Amino acid sequence: MRIGVLTSGGDAPGMNAAIRAVVLQAARRGVEVIGIRRGYEGLLAGEFCPLGPADVRDIIGKGGTFLKCTRSPRFRTEAGLEEAHSRLQKEGIEALVVIGGDGSFRGAARLAALGIQVVGIPGTIDNDIPGTETTIGFDTAVSVVVETIDRIKDTATSLVTAEPRVFVVEVMGRDLGAIAAYSGLASGADWTIIPEVPCDLGTMCSSIERSQYSVILVAEGAGGALAVAQEIKARVGIEPRVSILGHLQRGGVPTPADRVLATRLGVAAVDFLLTGGSGKYMGIVRGEVQAIDFPAEGVKKDTDLGLYWLAMHFASAGRPEHTLTYCLNVPA
Ligand code: F6P
Repeated sequence: MRIGVLTSGGDAPGMNAAIRAVVLQAARRGVEVIGIRRGYEGLLAGEFCPLGPADVRDIIGKGGTFLKCTRSPRFRTEAGLEEAHSRLQKEGIEALVVIGGDGSFRGAARLAALGIQVVGIPGTIDNDIPGTETTIGFDTAVSVVVETIDRIKDTATSLVTAEPRVFVVEVMGRDLGAIAAYSGLASGADWTIIPEVPCDLGTMCSSIERSQYSVILVAEGAGGALAVAQEIKARVGIEPRVSILGHLQRGGVPTPADRVLATRLGVAAVDFLLTGGSGKYMGIVRGEVQAIDFPAEGVKKDTDLGLYWLAMHFASAGRPEHTLTYCLNVPA
């Protein structure tokens, strides 16, 4: 058997560890692996490269993806899909591992429907794929955010000024607040703003006015840091200091948790294909690897609002002007 492997969509730290696991597990099972560069775009262009254990020897700790990735509008057309199918057949690739997010999984499901054996591995910092508890890259992205807020708090708590100081930090998450909610809880940010829950700007601003410093965490999908900073300035008259973390969250060394996750999912993906499986992705359910149906188009995982509200409760309780009013108004 010949297995193809590609990374698609936005890169995520830990994708290299997943490629490595696919290659090493395939070698262990006596199966050949062909790397496909630049995701579906490279598949259409025939950018194939045989991969063996020596090719993946030193990549487990490297961020990004050495196979490169793209977002491919051409592959989304019927003609593109046909072309991809015939490229795989010509190359003798009977099975494909697709490492990416929900857009990449839609492509994977279409190829599976044409009779190619396909398995997905969830690689996205957004952790927005329904079914799995987590995705490759999320832990690394959250670690970057939490470390940044720890750093900002060092200066926020040190420099005492006549007027309150406000720090607004923007994190990724185009549509959802998973990174913000998780990081808000882990960092003890004073306020977390996510697209799923309307922000009570009035309460936030009156709290800002009464605190020596406030660190506000905002998801890009909730309007972003600049809009929030402008609003604070208009209401309170204080110029917030803004940090937009952007792609710092997506690059860099994957955490041990992401490397282990990627390795477990890569191994399971190869074994799934070798037992004739297709049309599913490997995810984590109650801590165990499981084969999960590809999500329907447009369906995203719900952000864990329990974590969000806990972050808000605890942040509120820790502020010097603490009153229980806000805590009492939010769901338990
Ligand atoms: O999908 C991951 C993600 O990092 C989103 O959170 C973010 O909105 C987007 O990618 C940024 O993509 P680009 O690299 O195209 O700016």
